[in-house]
Amino acid sequence: MTEELVVRKAVPGDVPGIEAMHSACSLDSRIARWHAPLRAVPSRYLADAVSGRREHVALVATDRRDVIALASAVHVGGGSWDLGVLVRDDRQRQGLGTSLVTAVVTEAVRRGATGLRADLTPSRHFLLAVLQPLGRVLASVDGDGLHARVEMAATPATDRTTRFVRPLRVGSVLREPDGTTPR
Ligand SMILES: CC(C)(COP(=O)(O)OP(=O)(O)OC[C@H]1O[C@@H](n2cnc3c(N)ncnc32)[C@H](O)[C@@H]1OP(=O)(O)O)[C@@H](O)C(=O)NCCC(=O)NCCS
Repeated sequence: MTEELVVRKAVPGDVPGIEAMHSACSLDSRIARWHAPLRAVPSRYLADAVSGRREHVALVATDRRDVIALASAVHVGGGSWDLGVLVRDDRQRQGLGTSLVTAVVTEAVRRGATGLRADLTPSRHFLLAVLQPLGRVLASVDGDGLHARVEMAATPATDRTTRFVRPLRVGSVLREPDGTTPR
């Protein structure tokens, strides 16, 4: 039987699941996400992610039992949004990161985003290729790591939608928290 993963907006009820997913991640993944060896998701970030605030797009992937991944983009001003994504280690390399990043960026563009910033550790340089279909990617390196900036077109292209669907090796749908399909 094909396992169905649901990608949907994060809601307050996801907090324990997000915390559990984070705890199950390796130190390497947590450092890559936060650029520090955090044991827990920063509480202010987490509260904001599940708040439904228009300037914070946060999506979770769940297998209906557990939260497997969280991706978010926060408006930092001037049409620019900051990207953050974490996929549980045992579910990496299954297309989920690509799907979530694409879905988050697509939603951010719908909310007026024109630019995206992502701070990566050098070991995650491959995310540049994931960002490539979303716009013009500019990358720079300094002592703090790899900084990616994406200049997005106002309307997501069809092939980006295709990329959202294609890489998942399990069933996946994008749903609102109440189970409906987004407009
Ligand atoms: C970065 C991250 C979100 C990617 O998620 P993912 O679900 O593994 O990504 P995908 O499966 O969509 O991978 C897409 C492509 O990226 C590349 N890639 C992914 N993980 C890789 C790895 N560990 N090494 C080399 N290439 C990798 C591959 O080309 C992959 O495609 P393929 O599997 O068909 O070869 C995940 O590794 C993660 O959570 N890392 C820790 C947090 C982090 O680094 N976040 C980014 C900064 S906020």
